[in-house]
Amino acid sequence: MTTSETEDLVRQLNAAAEANLARHLAVAENWMPHEFVPWGEGRNFAVLGGEPWSAEQSRLSPVARTALEVNLLTEDNLPGYHAELVRTFGRDGAWGAWVNQWTAEEARHASCMRDYLLVTRGTDPDRLEHARMATMQAGFDAGGKPLLHACVYVSFQELATRASHRNTGRYSGDPIAERLLARIAMDENLHMIFYRNIVKAAFQIAPSETLRAITDEVTSFVMPGSVIPGFARKAFQIAQAGIYDLRIHHDDVIMPLVRHWGIFEAEGLDGDGERARQDLASALKTLDARAAAFVERRAEAHAKRCIDQEPELGGLG
Ligand SMILES: [Fe+2]
Ligand SMILES: [Fe+2]
Repeated sequence: MTTSETEDLVRQLNAAAEANLARHLAVAENWMPHEFVPWGEGRNFAVLGGEPWSAEQSRLSPVARTALEVNLLTEDNLPGYHAELVRTFGRDGAWGAWVNQWTAEEARHASCMRDYLLVTRGTDPDRLEHARMATMQAGFDAGGKPLLHACVYVSFQELATRASHRNTGRYSGDPIAERLLARIAMDENLHMIFYRNIVKAAFQIAPSETLRAITDEVTSFVMPGSVIPGFARKAFQIAQAGIYDLRIHHDDVIMPLVRHWGIFEAEGLDGDGERARQDLASALKTLDARAAAFVERRAEAHAKRCIDQEPELGGLG
């Protein structure tokens, strides 16, 4: 798409942006992050005469801690995402209003998750701060995605973070963390709906280009937190725990949106659109096969661990 074609598309999508901003403002709840943090559990750290942090103070398992830290550090990088959205959507009209509304809502997520973790001693505060610095120093660069690609990416990304928060909360075993993360997940769901509806409107206006963008983003999707120090190792632990893995990515993130957009039911596509749809079908097949292989490997590793840990049977003779 040329710059003028993109500008034309933005103009045509203005009505969808206005309608979806209005819908969002009507349903988004102005919730209070301080009401989700057990302040009474808080106490000073060593410099102020209290106790230094140590792992046994946390009621979270090491994996739950890792998942919460990754979710928090992902949220911490908000200025990077804000800059990308301003670059893509601009500052005017409904697009500009949406970017600021979205940013204000997202800012709650990191602040209340950090409060929760510090008050409950759920994380090493020094390590967390070093990781936050490193993450924000890396920043976020979406690689100059064009408008449609950006809208598709954020649709997937918001649904991915929704699943990640929701599943981390369930996994944590702490009702306070679960309540907090379920609340955040509801925000991510509303954000996803905004972008999803923009993509749906774009699919009506420019089906082939939108389909190509969807195909590209399915094949190249990377979590926004990938710049976090040690992300690959942490993501592996999170996947092993079933908090966020390829199966969830395929079943709960990619496929619900592909179905919602009605991609495989659409008629009257031109040659480019049909090619993009075929490429998407094969990308989905590959993703599904990778998800199945991952689940199988994980089950085998789990079975092997169970056998290794079984007490030896002795004394029978
Ligand atoms: Fe968020
Ligand atoms: Fe979000």
